[in-house]
Formats: sequence, structure tokens, C-alpha cells
Amino acid sequence: MRQLIAGNWKMNGTSAALGEIEAVCEMVTARPPACDVLICPPATLIARAAAQAKGRIAIGGQDCHAQVSGAFTGDISAEMLKDAGASAVIVGHSERRQYHGETDAMVMAKAQAAWRAGLMAIICIGETEAQRVAGHALHICSGQIDNSVPDGLTASNTAIAYEPVWAIGTGRTPTSQEIAEVHDHIRTCLTKRFGKGEGAATRILYGGSMKPSNAAEILAISNVGGGLIGGASLKAQDFGAIFNASSANP
Ligand code: 13P
Repeated sequence: MRQLIAGNWKMNGTSAALGEIEAVCEMVTARPPACDVLICPPATLIARAAAQAKGRIAIGGQDCHAQVSGAFTGDISAEMLKDAGASAVIVGHSERRQYHGETDAMVMAKAQAAWRAGLMAIICIGETEAQRVAGHALHICSGQIDNSVPDGLTASNTAIAYEPVWAIGTGRTPTSQEIAEVHDHIRTCLTKRFGKGEGAATRILYGGSMKPSNAAEILAISNVGGGLIGGASLKAQDFGAIFNASSANP
């Protein structure tokens, strides 16, 4: 299984940032990495980023609406993302869950919309600090999988992103042992529900303060199928150092 290294630019980037897309594409061309590379810029840049990338890397969205079209001012459908050149979309990021009140049921509907449009869904889960301190991290993650991952998951239509909320943008990361524990647990949940074929082959990304200095260690942990990178994906040099740290490790 090839790892997936995905950049989530969040609400960062205007036209000038297309230079970073080009720089990443040039790095990938000069030295093909062992992993798949995806950048999810803000929606305003998707079409231009896809035109710039010309297939050298994949481009994705950061969210989508569950419906195909309609009276939903400001929203963007999965079909629109696909039409703009996206091949993937992040759904259920903790910032969407926190600031937009997205529930597991809404996240599930968005993942189904992504599949309907032919996009890979990157479905985000992860515990808060209080939940971890209370000893509930594994339970929270399996509950989110049960309730926000639809039936019909395959290894090619979905990646799960484990992003502990307390590690996002904080510079703090779980220990390798803690990451392994959660990823092993997620793998068990996926194989139980989706079988030893698709459930075992689905990539489980780690996200939260991943950077060049910790990428190699995190990407070598068993059941880590890649990374979802925020801040460190905004600069091509840092992002490149992360995807070049990827091995063929599932
Ligand atoms: P940081 O890498 O900035 O901690 O963000 C992680 C994240 O939320 C990616 O989706």
C-alpha cells in the first residue's frame, strides 16, 4: 500500500500560493516520492491548482455539501469540486465539527456525497484533550468510525485521518506508542466492519503537528498509512521533506 501524504491548507492561500503548488510538483517530478501526494487548497484555488498541477500531484477540497445542488448559499457540492479538478475531499475535520457544528451523521452524508461524485473521502476522527485524559480516546474514535463512515467503504474511495484535536496546530504530538495504539484500534474497527480485504487495506493517516522533524518516525509506525498536514504543508520545502520521509509502510 502506498502511503498518502495530504496537505490541508485550511483558510490560507491566494493566487501567490500557486507558486508553492508548482514547487511541490517540480520536487515530485525531480524525485518521485514513495507515496501519493495531495494538496487541499481553499476552494477558490482548486481549479487553478489543478490546472497548475497537470496531474503531477492530486488536488482536493476541504469540505463539501451533502446535496448535489440547491438553495444552500455559500456551500459547494462534491460534484462542483470534481468539476473544478479535485479528486478527493476532506470531510469531518475537527474544525468543521467544532466551528460549524457538524455531527457524525452530517459527516457520513458528506462522505457519501464524495463517493457519489467520484471523489476519495478523507474522513477525519479524533479525540479532544479532555477525552484523552479521561481515558476515552479509543472509544471516541471507534464511535466516530461507527457513525461517520458509511457502508460501502473501499480502500480506494476512503482514507481515515486520525487527528487528535489537542495535537492540531499546537506543536504537541502523541508518542509513537500512543499513535500506534489508536491506529491499531482503528484498523481493528475497519477490518471487523469492512472485512480483511478493504478494511485491512484502507489507509489510516495521522494528522496533528506533523512536520519534517517528526515525519519519518510517525510514518514508520505500523498502520500509519500517511499523513494529513496543516501548517507544514503551506511551504513546498517543508511539505516536500515530509513526503520524502514516506516509506512503503502501510
Ligand atoms: P497542523 O499540521 O497544523 O497541526 O494541522 C493538522 C490538521 O488539522 C490537518 O488537517
